[in-house]
Amino acid sequence: YFYFIMALIIAYLLGSVSFSYLTGQLLKKLDIRDHGSGNAGATNTLRVLGTGPAVAVLILDAAKGILAVFIGYFFSGAMDPAIAGALAGLASILGHNWPVFFGFRGGKGVATTIGVMATLVFFPALVSGVIAILSIVITRFVSLGSLLFIFNTLLFTLAVQLFSETFQVYFLLVLAVITGLSIWRHRTNIERLLNGTESKLGQKVEV
Ligand code: G3P
Repeated sequence: YFYFIMALIIAYLLGSVSFSYLTGQLLKKLDIRDHGSGNAGATNTLRVLGTGPAVAVLILDAAKGILAVFIGYFFSGAMDPAIAGALAGLASILGHNWPVFFGFRGGKGVATTIGVMATLVFFPALVSGVIAILSIVITRFVSLGSLLFIFNTLLFTLAVQLFSETFQVYFLLVLAVITGLSIWRHRTNIERLLNGTESKLGQKVEV
């Protein structure tokens, strides 16, 4: 398991490269965590820095998740590659949320989770992605779309496994941890969604 443990550490370090923080520093010498929602993520980059930087952050943060899963596959050794990939994906999300390079203050892991889920369970992630985008277009709440994406991906993966009778309990368990983690990271968003104070897409903030 030595190589696999190394792979997890590499995935965590990779996840710790916070592209929203770096983009803020590069473009405006600001700490993204001191502006907007204070979250180091693509949504807050959109609020604070605009569309171009936000798209770049979304792609780069998602790429970390994709790469991490492949690192897990590659170093799975005697393990089930699906579980190894999922664990490495989880490690990259942990890095994104609690980055070792930036005082452990990171993001909510949505973009990275999109990359991880799209690599692990492509079709459930694709269908969930379409639903999430529609919900964001209709409600303009990115956080709601993020939560729908993550929850539905788990649900659809579970449904696919039930129908095909290929139950991968430990794999599903790791996906459930990733989902639970994301819901927990969104707890203040959930509160704001419930009391009607969540910010909507398109509301920019002054920097
Ligand atoms: O990308 C994370 C999103 O779901 C919420 O971000 O900045 O609105 O808290 P934010």
